[in-house]
Amino acid sequence: MTVHFIGAGPGAADLITLRGRDLIAACPVCLYAGSLVPDEILAHCPDSATIINTAPLDLDAIVAHCKAAHAKGQDVARLHSGDLSVWSAMGEQIRRLRAEGIPVSVTPGVPSFAAAAAALQTELTLPGLAQSVILTRTPGRASSMPAGETLTNFAATGATLAIHLSISNLDTVIADLTPAYGPGCPVAVVYRASWPDQQVIRSTLASLKDDVTENISRTALILVGPALAGEGFEDSCLYATEYDRRYRPQTADSPWSSWSHGDD
Ligand SMILES: C[S@@+](CC[C@H](N)C(=O)[O-])C[C@H]1O[C@@H](n2cnc3c(N)ncnc32)[C@H](O)[C@@H]1O
Repeated sequence: MTVHFIGAGPGAADLITLRGRDLIAACPVCLYAGSLVPDEILAHCPDSATIINTAPLDLDAIVAHCKAAHAKGQDVARLHSGDLSVWSAMGEQIRRLRAEGIPVSVTPGVPSFAAAAAALQTELTLPGLAQSVILTRTPGRASSMPAGETLTNFAATGATLAIHLSISNLDTVIADLTPAYGPGCPVAVVYRASWPDQQVIRSTLASLKDDVTENISRTALILVGPALAGEGFEDSCLYATEYDRRYRPQTADSPWSSWSHGDD
């Protein structure tokens, strides 16, 4: 028996891995984080499956469901939105399950920042503009931030920021980022990326407050940085005609000419 943690993706029912879908179909028990996992994903559960929305449960109750399934020898599909590596609360569940001697597996999912970038049709690491993406958030009612992980500090890098869980903190975001990025810095807000009611707002730090309407109050990502402009960047070397590289040696005496995959 195993508790399979599965990233259920950002919302669209077909943005789940084949492995995740097949695990859901094979598990007699499914625990899902109800607020962001779409019903269509649950349709992969067997007809006879026990399906439990964990949104109203506390950690003890979730672990109790896993222990009950363990006692019956039933595998559990544990679904969280997006990917499990960020803001999924998987860490605390795995810690408790390991203490109970219950095996776990982890299957990644499409994270919301990737779905938002796809909605924008934008590469977040454009040569000469940004080569790093910082996934972060602002402090919330239940979550403080470790010292040092401030927007002001991240702004000093000039990287592309993907700010989660912060659509209700726009004033802070604007105040903390404007000194480093400047008021004209491009910003995109993607609400419910990949869901049927997805909305995209392109703005700047100066006009963000006016452009984000009140109905966008949760499940939105704020992407900030020069790469969001989608212009003013250099071509990469990857496909440059004259660039000598492993997969495309330019001359017979190129160090890559004698390279074969076996050298890797
Ligand atoms: C609890 S976190 C979950 C993050 C998730 N594990 C992931 O991989 O993206 C919830 C936050 O992620 C972002 N988010 C999740 N799904 C989203 C979506 N479909 N569109 C935009 N933002 C989303 C929002 O910032 C939301 O407040």
